[in-house]
Amino acid sequence: MAKSPSTIFVCQNCGETARKWLGQCPGCREWNTLVEERVRTAAAASRSFTGRAAGSAPVAYPSIESQDDARTTSGIAEFDRVLGGGIVAGSLVLIGGTPGIGKSTIALQIADRMTAGGERVLYVSGEESERQIKLRGERLGISAEDLYVLPETNLEALLAQTAELRPALVIIDSIQTIFSERVESAPGSVSQVREVAGQLMLFAKSSGTPMFITGHVTKDGSIAGPKTLEHIVDTVLYFEGDRHHNHRIIRATKNRFGAANEIGVFEMTGTGLVAVANPSELFLQERPAGASGSVVTVAMEGTRPMLVEIQSLVSGTKFGTARRMTQGFDQNRASLLIAVMEKRLGMQISGDDVFINIAGGIEIDEPAADLGVIAAIASSFRNLEVPPETAVFGEVGLTGEIRGVLQAQARAREAQTLGFKKLILPESNKKGLEKLLGIRVVGVRTLEDAIAELF
Ligand code: TYD
Ligand code: MG
Repeated sequence: MAKSPSTIFVCQNCGETARKWLGQCPGCREWNTLVEERVRTAAAASRSFTGRAAGSAPVAYPSIESQDDARTTSGIAEFDRVLGGGIVAGSLVLIGGTPGIGKSTIALQIADRMTAGGERVLYVSGEESERQIKLRGERLGISAEDLYVLPETNLEALLAQTAELRPALVIIDSIQTIFSERVESAPGSVSQVREVAGQLMLFAKSSGTPMFITGHVTKDGSIAGPKTLEHIVDTVLYFEGDRHHNHRIIRATKNRFGAANEIGVFEMTGTGLVAVANPSELFLQERPAGASGSVVTVAMEGTRPMLVEIQSLVSGTKFGTARRMTQGFDQNRASLLIAVMEKRLGMQISGDDVFINIAGGIEIDEPAADLGVIAAIASSFRNLEVPPETAVFGEVGLTGEIRGVLQAQARAREAQTLGFKKLILPESNKKGLEKLLGIRVVGVRTLEDAIAELF
């Protein structure tokens, strides 16, 4: 039998392993991402994250205690909603985002609110000194009594301190700076990140202590040591938004204790992150009046309906091939919708550049936005404005049929609340809405009907 190697090569982007060094990762096709790391022992690699000792006996289902009441509030309602109603005991929550987006800020704010509620919080920082943290705290107006700060990068040391202090919440900022003595690779490498997360999970589950860990994301938007890490933790929260906008969206992309895709909307102010009470208002506030190419649709973000503005610009191409550029909307989906428009509406768009932008830097990835996107393109193409008090939503099929969407009533109600007077939606979703809301509700079956109704 061949001697098993003591080192392997691990892709720092996707976690793929190889026996020998390769220029390109066979998994994710990135170049120069394979790094030599020591092979972990079987004992370290195979461990249960459920908090029960290895080799324990099965438990009868009826005798298992349900943990439904074991949530504590983070003190920030908007953050609680993203978590699915508060912090679950023993949960491991990953907060990811690009540098400078506000991970440390929200972490410190949560620490403050929790201590104000009489809980003890431990804030472990591998990136900043006590003084830097205090400086930020003063900016945020934090006076937390029972908050402990620990600048530490050694995992075993920080776990020992945690066991002694017995806090109600541990914050670790960031996972990429922490290393375990059990693994020889550098902090931030896939093996380290995985090992650290694994040990934290074990600690959280066995002690019942919830833990928040922050993680930096790479340029393509994934957390370093990414997929493997996402599988280990209970909940993954991503910060969305960019430097050019003040608002930040925290989205749960995975949640073992609540709905995925739930979002919280915040605004970055001089004194930290402040929850936005009415996100629809925020996303519509800069909407141009009487301009063509602007349409309002109602998107569902988790369980919450939200009004967003879709903008489009259609202009004659300067180059041989027309461009389709999108921001906040899937480009392939846009190409498909344009093809449907050409075929079913007879609009000759193939020679034009088409740009689509979801205003406010938000991203939509549900088919219910199809009709809004088409309406925006048609509006720009014909240079006709859509009446400002009209909102649309609906999925568009390949034959130009308008298909019903989920949660139509919640969407319609949100539009009515924000003062919209007319709604264009799938015929199958229309039932009873007009009577309920007291605004004009037009049900459409085909794309032609919808366009005729819009202009
Ligand atoms: P930070 O939480 O340090 O980001 P991360 O931990 O994700 O890297 O966010 C820092 C940014 O937020 C920085 O650009 C300054 C800004 N900021 C404010 O605008 N107001 C504030 O009250 C604070 C604390 C930070
Ligand atoms: Mg930080």
